[in-house]
Amino acid sequence: MRHLFARHAARLKRAGLATAVLAATALGAAVLPGAAHAADTPLRDLASTKGIYVGNAVAGGKLSGTAQYAAIAGTQFSSLTPENAMKWGSVEANRGTFNWAEADQIVAFAQAHNQQVRGHTLVWHSQNPSWLTNGNFGATELSGILQQHIATEAGRYQGKIYAWDVLNELFNEDGTYRTSLWYNTLGTGFIANSLAWAHQADPAAKLYINDYNVEGLGAKSDALYNLVKSLKAQGAPIDGVGLQAHFILGQVPSTLQANIQRFADLGVDVAVTELDIRMQTPSTAAKLTQQGADYTTVVKACLAVTRCKGITGWDISDADSWVPSVFSGYGAATLYDESYQPKPAYQAVATALGGSTSTASPSPSASASASPSPSPTATATSTPTGGSGCTAAYSVSNQWNTGFSGAVQVSCPAGASLASWKVGWDFGAGQQLTQAWNATCTQSGVHVTCTNATWNGAVPAGGSASFGFNANWAGSNPVPVVTLG
Ligand code: G3I
Repeated sequence: MRHLFARHAARLKRAGLATAVLAATALGAAVLPGAAHAADTPLRDLASTKGIYVGNAVAGGKLSGTAQYAAIAGTQFSSLTPENAMKWGSVEANRGTFNWAEADQIVAFAQAHNQQVRGHTLVWHSQNPSWLTNGNFGATELSGILQQHIATEAGRYQGKIYAWDVLNELFNEDGTYRTSLWYNTLGTGFIANSLAWAHQADPAAKLYINDYNVEGLGAKSDALYNLVKSLKAQGAPIDGVGLQAHFILGQVPSTLQANIQRFADLGVDVAVTELDIRMQTPSTAAKLTQQGADYTTVVKACLAVTRCKGITGWDISDADSWVPSVFSGYGAATLYDESYQPKPAYQAVATALGGSTSTASPSPSASASASPSPSPTATATSTPTGGSGCTAAYSVSNQWNTGFSGAVQVSCPAGASLASWKVGWDFGAGQQLTQAWNATCTQSGVHVTCTNATWNGAVPAGGSASFGFNANWAGSNPVPVVTLG
């Protein structure tokens, strides 16, 4: 694995990427740091050949504010899970006042990228609004509030959610029920009721119970197993079990596959829903290699069980991960480093999904033989335009044999701002836009025009907005001159 990674780094170097970035920086151009990405087949394409989806948790602010994040989220994954945006405290911080902005944004982003959405989460003991946790509601009223919440949220996204984590983290480590607002007041009755209410609101959505430390065989996973078995026996609408999979380096349970299999044998789907593998920081080459092996174990366990439907990572990069703020001294848990560069774990996942160095990571000479002109490089440039002093930076974030993903970041210096923006360029080598996100883009002949989405038109002084797109290319893929109007 280390060998593959070193080869990948060497390939980028041979492609002149490091030079291009340095040169652009020296010229003062607004280069997107880490814009280069492995010229690999996206994970989502590899996963789909294996019959599973591969997803990640996302935050709306980063999808519209961080170009590399949005480009990776949009191109590498076939499923998105709102990391926080659909939690009760996010959507109804004040009773009766709903804020769907971030959740809507993520659903729209997913739809623009042909991605499915895992809804997370309708019933949890955590991240609830204080009006709810401090309300001292009696059983009847609380049950009504819960029913209303599920009907409202699952109803709003009816038909747009592949699977809901209806119930999250019901158990203690010893397999007893966790005391919570719900359990304390409603006993266990809220479990089957919540599934029934969710099914009523969105009959097509797969309904999951999700938890952590239930990935291997043990008391907690036994409790979940027995609950699912009993719900199935009652005819409750339970479709799946979510194994969060927040692992520690070198500690992926050896019984993971057996555990997935036993849930599948109950007649439910299984998904790895929040995968990350943390290590004590700083990382070392040896730790990163071990991490790759651990990710491989998880992917292989899922692939080995037909009803394991997919794997979702928890946070795009190490810069986005929740881990360091909760586990002091730990981090580096995701597939991308803090500069959005793929780590050995990324290569490990790609390989476990059937990618190989020759097909997933073509060397410059290999791709030159496959294409009629020199291998295009993932590079970045920018053109300051418009009287405002604001700039637009175009970058290719990922490129494979027939397609590529690009990102444009609109940035304003101190003292300048935009209320709305329009970015344009000419594709000089027959490239054809296929989709865009966080902007409305059209292509007429060679000319592409992109205007801001409703939520990212305003670019404050010293701030930026970004959007991404996919396009086809053949032969060569030169970086165009970008105008900002
Ligand atoms: O948005 C506020 C911001 O306005 C405020 O300034 C800041 C100050 O603390 O907090 C921000 O909210 C934080 C939120 O993430 C968004 O960043 C919360 O404090 C913080 O607690 C919250 O953490 C989330 C955590 O769930 C909450 O329990 C993590 O991002 C999220 O990754 C994590 O996800 C959970 C899954 O839902 C369930 N399984 C475990 C997993 C990891 O803990």
